[in-house]
Amino acid sequence: MQTLFIGQQLIFLHEVDSTNTYATNLLRNVNVAEGAVIFTDNQTQGKGQRGAIWNSEIGSNITVSCILKPHFLSIKNTFYLSKISALAIYDVLTELLPNSQFDIKIKWPNDILVNQKKIAGILIENNFNRDVLQHSVIGIGINVNQMEFKDLHNRASSLKLLTNQVYNKNDILEKLCQQLEKWYLKLKALKFSEIDEHYLNRLFGMNRLCLFSNINNNEFSATIIGIDPDGKLILQHTDGKLYYYD
Ligand code: BTN
Repeated sequence: MQTLFIGQQLIFLHEVDSTNTYATNLLRNVNVAEGAVIFTDNQTQGKGQRGAIWNSEIGSNITVSCILKPHFLSIKNTFYLSKISALAIYDVLTELLPNSQFDIKIKWPNDILVNQKKIAGILIENNFNRDVLQHSVIGIGINVNQMEFKDLHNRASSLKLLTNQVYNKNDILEKLCQQLEKWYLKLKALKFSEIDEHYLNRLFGMNRLCLFSNINNNEFSATIIGIDPDGKLILQHTDGKLYYYD
């Protein structure tokens, strides 16, 4: 693995409930190094955002968690971990899909879309001690060689579905570790505006009038004009007023 620290300690498990849960338990029980990476061929209880289940065909995809110890990051800046993880996946996909026929976008807060279909998701679990971020588990799922999805709305895709090629998962894992390390080092160097600029430039719907629906399923038109420091989406409604959405 050609990295400084991310992925230098690699733990492969044939099967596990969730690599995020495994990483969190590891942190509780042993002194694990920053950059340790846990990956598996089969998650029996893969976790998605907002309590959802992350389903992934056995052996076909990347399901991985990386342990970081961002003690330097203040609580108000924790959303930057989402930003750098999304940017890392974005850059991996750009390396793999260099062709202009693929439109790669970050959908707030941290889904990755290719041609408007979801190809990757991120679940970050942070642990704080008082006001200091002790450690973060960055869980990443990337759909690689899976050809069929149970999503009734046909909103999911994979690299193989897009290109008809079979991908080597170890190569992708190495690229992911390299890109995550690159972006994490920028964060460690406190290059917030560079990260913001890249994130906003790649954000789906940025500066465009789009249709949204709120938690009551009411639809409305608005324009994404940015992300606030807490990671909330800043929308400008058609009456010109700004609203912040979690
Ligand atoms: C989402 O988009 O809902 C987030 C999906 C995150 C899935 C990954 S797979 C590896 C890691 N372990 C988990 O249990 N979840 C994350």
